[in-house]
Amino acid sequence: MKYKKSLDLLLKEAAETGEGTLKRTLGAGNLIALGIGAIIGAGLFVRTAAAAADHAGPSVTLAFILAAIGCALAGLCYAEFASMIPIAGSAYTYSYATMGEVVAWVIGWDLVLEYAVGAATVAIAWSEYLNKLLETFGMNISYQYCHSPFQHSADGVQGIVNLPALFIIVILSLVLIRGTKESATINNMIVILKVAIVVLFIAIGWGYMNPVNHTPYIPENVTGKFGDYGWSGIISAAGVVFFAFIGFDAVSTAAQEAKNPAKDMPIGILVSLAICTVLYVLFGHVLTGVANYKEFGAAGAGKEASVAYAIETYMHNYHWLSVLVTVAILAGFSSVILVMLLGQSRVFYSMSKDGLVPKIFSAVHPKFKTPYKSNLIFLVVVGLFAAFIPGDIVGDMTSIGTLFAFSLVCLGVLILRKTDPDRHRPFKTPLMPLVPILGIIVCGAMMYGLGRHNWERLIIWMMIGFVIYFTYSIKHSVIRNSGKTVFPKDPPAPTIVE
Ligand code: ALA
Repeated sequence: MKYKKSLDLLLKEAAETGEGTLKRTLGAGNLIALGIGAIIGAGLFVRTAAAAADHAGPSVTLAFILAAIGCALAGLCYAEFASMIPIAGSAYTYSYATMGEVVAWVIGWDLVLEYAVGAATVAIAWSEYLNKLLETFGMNISYQYCHSPFQHSADGVQGIVNLPALFIIVILSLVLIRGTKESATINNMIVILKVAIVVLFIAIGWGYMNPVNHTPYIPENVTGKFGDYGWSGIISAAGVVFFAFIGFDAVSTAAQEAKNPAKDMPIGILVSLAICTVLYVLFGHVLTGVANYKEFGAAGAGKEASVAYAIETYMHNYHWLSVLVTVAILAGFSSVILVMLLGQSRVFYSMSKDGLVPKIFSAVHPKFKTPYKSNLIFLVVVGLFAAFIPGDIVGDMTSIGTLFAFSLVCLGVLILRKTDPDRHRPFKTPLMPLVPILGIIVCGAMMYGLGRHNWERLIIWMMIGFVIYFTYSIKHSVIRNSGKTVFPKDPPAPTIVE
């Protein structure tokens, strides 16, 4: 038997106001800023160099284009859903209405990888750049206190705990508890700074590119191993730099706080995605032109804080730019972490309202109107990941988890067009069914490119999720315990709120 949530019920929930619900304060501009705030971050400033070094060399730019295609296809599906189901919860909510409770649980649990583990990844990158900034002033945090116990330095020092990563998670969780409107204002300021710094690096760095670094543009795959440069390397690199695009969908998690979700959600998602793609390709081209991609490898000097490294090593006279970039990156990473933590608490807010996770996750603060208890719980969970797991591992786990969620969203759009064709869709995914099918194929290819270990991690994570689902969620599910089995066709349908 399939337990689904009716769209009518969802829309009715979205229209609810008053005690215990979220405030509608965000306009289209805020949503685009929220998107860019979530998008430009560690993916660009840390993972670009890693993908170039390990998989693609200068052709990391092509990897960006491939990843952007996957995101655009999934983004069009997201936009259809987000405009027709404008309530908190993102892919989780959409799948509950289309594919039933089990799939919804899978997505909701999977989104923890995207948001919570993603926030930890960016916090770890934040720690790298903080150290770079401290070096400018002749200080630094010693290796063992800014790396996980699973890492050791070239000269054999073992990491213990990543304290700066933990620190930034604590601070930003507290900011979030203070309130969405206030967080959005801080976010807007950071977004301007972040975009300005990317543009500045591209403009100044352009003159410092060395054509030798770009030759050959697609390094040859000499080992014959999948992902080891060549064309397959571009696919693997796309899986890695895909991380840089994660976040445009976070816009959809704020749907319940949007003033005019039907119009503004698609704009927020697609415009932020388009702006970032252009910036990324140019950035990747300049970065691999200024420094050679081999320097960003494990043994290279530029593995950590690669942009600051490239500027300091090759762009003499631009020390000030390196400092400015580092400060902007620290602020930029903070806005990414903020949106990811926001997205995480919103997804669990919805899941908690549905009874799939405990009520504590939907307890709203009486004054700030934020799910503060949820924020505090994730402060601990994300903090543990940030403090003790290496950045590469959490980064790729985030990518594979998100790609999986995107594929399911594409599938959901296909299903809903069949099962509920007459529903009012303020935004329609074009070229049906080509767009969602291609979305599944492109995202699937990137998942494949991420390799076996990441698949194993994804499967283990999902198995843990199923244990929780079958021991807790099934018993507490609101829909299961309502006495009715399936909500969608419940007659008579309530008035649709548009
Ligand atoms: N897209 C975000 C980043 O790159 C997650 O940090």
